[in-house]
Amino acid sequence: MNSVSDYYSATQLRTDNWSALREITGSFARNMPSKISAKDTAKTQELFESLALIEPYWAFPGMAAFIHLRRLFEHNSYEELAFAVHRVTRALTTGAYRRRSIPLERDSIDKEEYDDESLLSPEARAMTKPYFEVLIVDNVSDQQERWLKNNVTRMRRPEDPFTYEAVVVPSLEDALIAVLFNHNIQAIVVRPGLVLKSKLDNEILHSFLSRAGGSDAIDAMLPENYGPELCRLIERVRPELDAYLVTDRSVEDIAGLELGICRRVFYNQEDFMELHLNILRGVEARNKTPFFTALVNYSKQPTGVFHAMPISRGKSITRSHWIQDMGAFYGPNIFLAETSATSGGLDSLLEPHGPIKEAQELASRAFGSKQTFFATNGTSTCNKIVVQALVRPGDIVLVDRDCHKSHHYGMVLAGAEVVYLDSYPLNEYSMYGAVPLREIKHQLLALKAAGKLDRVRMLLLTNCTFDGLVYNVERVMEECLAIKPDLVFLWDEAWFAFARFSPTYRQRTGMRTANNLRKRLKTDEHKEAYEAQQKVLGDATDEELLDARLIAPPTARIRVYATQSTHKTLTSLRQGSMIHVSDQDFKGEVEQSFHEAYMTHTSTSPNYQIIASLDVGRRQVELEGFEFVQRQIEAAMSMRRAISTHPRLQKYFKVLTAGDMIPEHHRQSGVVSYFDNEQGWTDMWDCWQQDDFVLDATRVTLAVGGTGWDGDTFKNDVLMDKYGIQINKTSRNTVLFMTNIGTTRSSVAYLIEVLVEIANELDDLLDDASKMERLSFDRRVKNLTENYPPLPDFSRFHDSFRPDNVTPEGDIRTAYYLSYDEKNCDYLELEGSLNDALQAGKEVVSASFIIPYPPGFPILVPGQVISKEILAFMLALDVNEIHGYRADLGLRVFTPEALAALPQAKKIKK
Ligand SMILES: Cc1ncc(COP(=O)(O)O)c(C=O)c1O
Repeated sequence: MNSVSDYYSATQLRTDNWSALREITGSFARNMPSKISAKDTAKTQELFESLALIEPYWAFPGMAAFIHLRRLFEHNSYEELAFAVHRVTRALTTGAYRRRSIPLERDSIDKEEYDDESLLSPEARAMTKPYFEVLIVDNVSDQQERWLKNNVTRMRRPEDPFTYEAVVVPSLEDALIAVLFNHNIQAIVVRPGLVLKSKLDNEILHSFLSRAGGSDAIDAMLPENYGPELCRLIERVRPELDAYLVTDRSVEDIAGLELGICRRVFYNQEDFMELHLNILRGVEARNKTPFFTALVNYSKQPTGVFHAMPISRGKSITRSHWIQDMGAFYGPNIFLAETSATSGGLDSLLEPHGPIKEAQELASRAFGSKQTFFATNGTSTCNKIVVQALVRPGDIVLVDRDCHKSHHYGMVLAGAEVVYLDSYPLNEYSMYGAVPLREIKHQLLALKAAGKLDRVRMLLLTNCTFDGLVYNVERVMEECLAIKPDLVFLWDEAWFAFARFSPTYRQRTGMRTANNLRKRLKTDEHKEAYEAQQKVLGDATDEELLDARLIAPPTARIRVYATQSTHKTLTSLRQGSMIHVSDQDFKGEVEQSFHEAYMTHTSTSPNYQIIASLDVGRRQVELEGFEFVQRQIEAAMSMRRAISTHPRLQKYFKVLTAGDMIPEHHRQSGVVSYFDNEQGWTDMWDCWQQDDFVLDATRVTLAVGGTGWDGDTFKNDVLMDKYGIQINKTSRNTVLFMTNIGTTRSSVAYLIEVLVEIANELDDLLDDASKMERLSFDRRVKNLTENYPPLPDFSRFHDSFRPDNVTPEGDIRTAYYLSYDEKNCDYLELEGSLNDALQAGKEVVSASFIIPYPPGFPILVPGQVISKEILAFMLALDVNEIHGYRADLGLRVFTPEALAALPQAKKIKK
């Protein structure tokens, strides 16, 4: 029997229970009733019981059908039962129930129609009306429920763009469970009869409730407020949904309440047509894709092309004798949609007034920003735009040293004085973690003590990191604002666009946190808490301030930017990215400089296909982001579980857990692992709410040192060459498997199969190995798992690039341009002249960015002093690519003369 703790999600439990029911009822139908064992009967009973807790939240097959199935079972009508369960399971798998009604009686079947359904071409599927479910919350009798459902569904008309079915649940709790569980729900109708408590009692379903605000908050509600409270609570977990509140309270009463996602209030309980039209309009507002639609329409218009772009309309291809294969490969539409025109219903990305502007506004709504800007050349560009827009030459910026190289180049372009922040190292796995808040506060306090706080402009962090470490965004921002109340935050969410669509993940995104903080800082409770803390901390020492959980002043400005590679985690063509802004001072202070920065970095020929894909990607997440992200997390979780529980895999591999990647003192919840062999799943919600760092479960880091191969060899020679599995991040002894919203359970199953095969082969190899071979294997494993070069911290900028030696900020731009003149530079060999110089106690200063790949962040930046630790690390590196390093010449460094000639060097000579 599938136990609840075996399941990460109720959706998976549902799917597996239906499959199990199909199998067992199929065997009943094939056997004589006398051959059916009591054990099987009991198992069937259990499956029905388990499904009875889940099915009330779904429109298909619906409770009436489900009860009918149970009756068939109780009356031993096994053939009928097997047939009906088979149809339900199949319709759930193929999604056929979304396209037509599924009769469950045997005589009702039209065999041909049934078979044809499964053969529908993708195009035919694309043409069917999208389907969704409407949740009606009202405590009604069975008869009233039928009446309600009929009234709602009777309004559907052939000309409607969508079709829907209704699900009725009686209580606020059930409604919360339903929206967290049934991803088909797009609209909720809250009627005055709703009650508070669910009658169902189930562990997995109840764990959902805590995500929506906890049972305590729910218990404290007043009955007359259940409706409005429900709308408010749903906003916390599924802000993209539409709610309609049907009420018998007075307009004045309702007007004063916060109504969350409520789009409209109805005072007439029986105005079903009006309700129907509103429901459709609400979904249409999300389904709308202004730019994609404009592009499709444009491509249908006959036009004569008298501007650049011979490829537009495919003209240069169809007339060609040599490049016809390109036309055949891509098909005609992409060329019909290629144009350099900004007229004809299209728009300009640089000055949007039409469909691009509207598409950006819709994206802003979807991602919860105040402004959103599209970018067609990746987050690399987004980062440079934000940095240039906000940072003036001489401003101090605190930067996570392991951040993407676009930030370092951004600092050079902006002329920032950079304070690099060190992440905690994970020496054992040759990777860095993330920057502890204490380190950030420490730097801010030091700058404050040096009287430089007014020049501190921005804190820049990567969330989540490549390896999946996620910050406690709210805590970081609040505590930093307590020291510097107008600090600007740039969260590099290149890998985190999907996070918005999971209630658990959303709370750690820049935009959601900005909105929360804006609200919270205005409350009286916050003001009181702040004032109380001020009294206690009046003249606290820095050490006390580091230890305290600081509260931001109510007057702090919330200034948050998030850059996202939509193309990395959601549907978008490569390079499709977005900049999301929630900055209280954007309009007053930044808009103009942002515009200039956007102009600096954006092509005058942005790719329309990318923009269209961003628009469609936004539509997708607003309608099914919740479902896709949930499935993604499920797939990753089943991967974690499969690897952790497979005895053969445990011998050579280990999935790194939060416990492996986050030091204990940063895990306040005490959660070590999301899955445990004995205890099953841990609810992630807890740790995501409180811990300093959490692990993004969708990224699975596998330690492979036990195989004797290093990460790179495992990736290239084993996974890629032998099994065609692609991954893009490795460390010395790990490989990273990233799931995405396209990852299926079967692709996970294939990966597990491959890992088992690799483990089997290794077993065979070791079985037949000679003593020497065995020794060599053990040595390789020991080397990879026990001997690891410690990861070096950022050393420091050379004094010539620092305004003083009180605080660590450095002028990276001067260093960068100093190296443009060859005569300022020299090359030193790692093991030769460089080593000698360091041994002799000389200061050697890097003239370039040195970026080993992996991990892909600079181990040295221009102007940085080369430490012995950095040299040792470089010598131990066994990667193929080190960008900026010339193996034939050595490391590029500044000559002592070039450094001495800098004015700064003279000024701060010790
Ligand atoms: C943290 C981070 N930021 C930014 C980028 C750049 O994004 P894009 O490829 O969209 O330019 C990357 C790319 O890997 C990244 O890892």
